[in-house]
Amino acid sequence: MSMAEEEKEKCLGDGSSSSPPSTTIANHTLTKVLGFAFLGGFCAYLVFSASGGSFFPSDPSDDGDVDGGCNFFAGSWISNPSGPAYTNASCKYIDPPNDCMTNGRPDREYLYWRWKPQSCDLPRANAEKFLNAMRNKAWGLVGDSIFRNQLNSWLCLLSQVEEATDIYHDEDYQSRTWYFPSYNFTLALLWAPFLLKAEVSRDASRNYDIKLHLDALESTWTNQYSNFDYIIISGGQWFLKTTMYLENNTIVGCHNCPEKDVKDLGFDYAYRKALQLSFNFIIESDHKPLVLFRTWLADHFEYGEWYSGGVCNRTEPYKAGEFNGDATDNMMWRLEVEEFKKAAAIGSKNRTRLKLFDTYHLSLLRPDGHPGPYRKLHPDLSKKPQNDCLHWCLPGPVDTWNDLATVIALNEEDSRSSSMK
Ligand SMILES: *[C@@H]1O[C@H](CO)[C@@H](O)[C@H](O)[C@H]1NC(C)=O
Ligand SMILES: *[C@@H]1O[C@H](CO)[C@@H](O)[C@H](O)[C@H]1NC(C)=O
Ligand SMILES: *[C@@H]1O[C@H](CO)[C@@H](O)[C@H](O)[C@H]1NC(C)=O
Ligand SMILES: *[C@@H]1O[C@H](CO)[C@@H](O)[C@H](O)[C@H]1NC(C)=O
Ligand SMILES: *[C@@H]1O[C@H](CO)[C@@H](O)[C@H](O)[C@H]1NC(C)=O
Repeated sequence: MSMAEEEKEKCLGDGSSSSPPSTTIANHTLTKVLGFAFLGGFCAYLVFSASGGSFFPSDPSDDGDVDGGCNFFAGSWISNPSGPAYTNASCKYIDPPNDCMTNGRPDREYLYWRWKPQSCDLPRANAEKFLNAMRNKAWGLVGDSIFRNQLNSWLCLLSQVEEATDIYHDEDYQSRTWYFPSYNFTLALLWAPFLLKAEVSRDASRNYDIKLHLDALESTWTNQYSNFDYIIISGGQWFLKTTMYLENNTIVGCHNCPEKDVKDLGFDYAYRKALQLSFNFIIESDHKPLVLFRTWLADHFEYGEWYSGGVCNRTEPYKAGEFNGDATDNMMWRLEVEEFKKAAAIGSKNRTRLKLFDTYHLSLLRPDGHPGPYRKLHPDLSKKPQNDCLHWCLPGPVDTWNDLATVIALNEEDSRSSSMK
C-alpha cells in the first residue's frame, strides 16, 4: 500500500488517538489531549486540547506590522453586513473538511464580521491589485495544515480574477504549488510542520512516531527558500505531540515519551530550538525575501476534550477581554515574540526583512469560526461526532489573514518602488 493510500485508509477511519499525556510547564499542570481526525483523500490534522491552569491576559505585540502608524493586529471584530468575499458556490478551492456551508452548518452569523484595527481600517483584499503587484513573484507558506486553510482562502479570493493551476503536489498533497499564468505568480505551501527535520511515521494503533532533529531544518523549505519573494512561516500544534528529540542523530530527550531513561525536555524547549534555528537560517541567508512570522494559533474546544464531547458551538466572536487564551497558548505566543524580537534585532543589521504576522489575538477571538461537527457532510449530531475546533471554515476568519497579508505586501511594494525613484 502506498503512503497516500495508507493515509487515506487511516483518514477514513474513526480518527482514534494517543492516550492523554500530562505535562508540567511553568508550574501549571496541563493536560493536552491529542487526537487526529481525517476526511477525504488527504488528511486534515487536528489537535484536541483541554487545558487547566490559570488564564492570564496578553496583548497583541507592539512588533506587529505598524504600517503608516497602524498596528493591524490590535483591534476588534465588528459587524459586516456585506458578508464574505466568496461562498461555497463561487469557490471551488474549499476542501471538504472546511466547507461548512455545504456540510450543513445551520448558522450564518459567523460570516458577517470584519476585523477593525484600533487606529485604521483594514481594506478587503483586492485580488486584481494584489496580482498586478505580484507579477513575476512567488509566495511560500511554510508550516502545517493551517496554511492549507490560508492557501485555499487565498485561491478563493484570487480566482475571482484568474483561476490558478496546480503545478506541483507531493504524494500526500501536503506540499503544493499553484500558479497564476497571466501574472506569472506562484503560491506554494511548503510542508514543514516542525520547521525542523522530522521523521514521522505511524504505528499499528495509529499513534504517531516522531523523531525530531533539533539541530537540522526541514529541507522542504530551506532548499527552496531562494525561490520566494515573500514567505509566511510558523510553527504550530504538532509540537504538542509525543516526540523523541535528537541532536547529532542521537536521542537527547523527548516530550511525553514513556521511556523512563529519556529526559522529558518539554515541547517549549523544542519549539524554541526550532525558532532559533529557523531565524538563524533566515538571517544568514544571502537571499532576502520579506518574511512574515505568523504567531501561534489556539484551538477553541469547550465542554470537554475531543473524546468527551468537546465542542466549539459559539456563534459569535468574543468581545475584547472576554477570553484571553489558555496558559499553554499564551506561553507559546510569548516564546515566539521573545525569539522573534531577538532575531529581528540581529536581522535589522543584516538587510533581513522580518515582520511579525501576529494573528494570535484576532484569531483567539473567533471561537465561532471552526467547522466543529461540520467537518463532515451533514453530520448526525445525535451521535456526537468528533469536532474540529482548530481549523477554520471557509469562508471565515482566515480570509482576514489574507486581507492582512495583502495590505502588508502592497505597502512593501509601494515602499520599494518609491525608494527606487
Ligand atoms: C452551498 O451550501 C448550501 C447550503 O448552505 C447548499 O445548499 C449548496 O448546495 C452548496 N453549494 C455547493 C455548490 O456545494
Ligand atoms: C516568472 O517569475 C519568476 C519568479 O517567480 C521569474 O524567475 C521568471 O523570470 C518569470 N518569468 C517571466 C517570463 O517573466
Ligand atoms: C556527532 O556524532 C559523531 C559520531 O556519530 C561524532 O564523531 C561527532 O563528534 C559528533 N558531533 C558532535 C558535534 O557532537
Ligand atoms: C548577514 O547576512 C550574510 C548574508 O547576507 C551572512 O553571510 C552573515 O552571516 C549574516 N550575519 C549575521 C550576523 O548573521
Ligand atoms: C454548546 O454545547 C454545550 C455542550 O453540549 C451546551 O451545554 C451548550 O448549551 C451549547 N451552547 C449553545 C450556544 O448551543
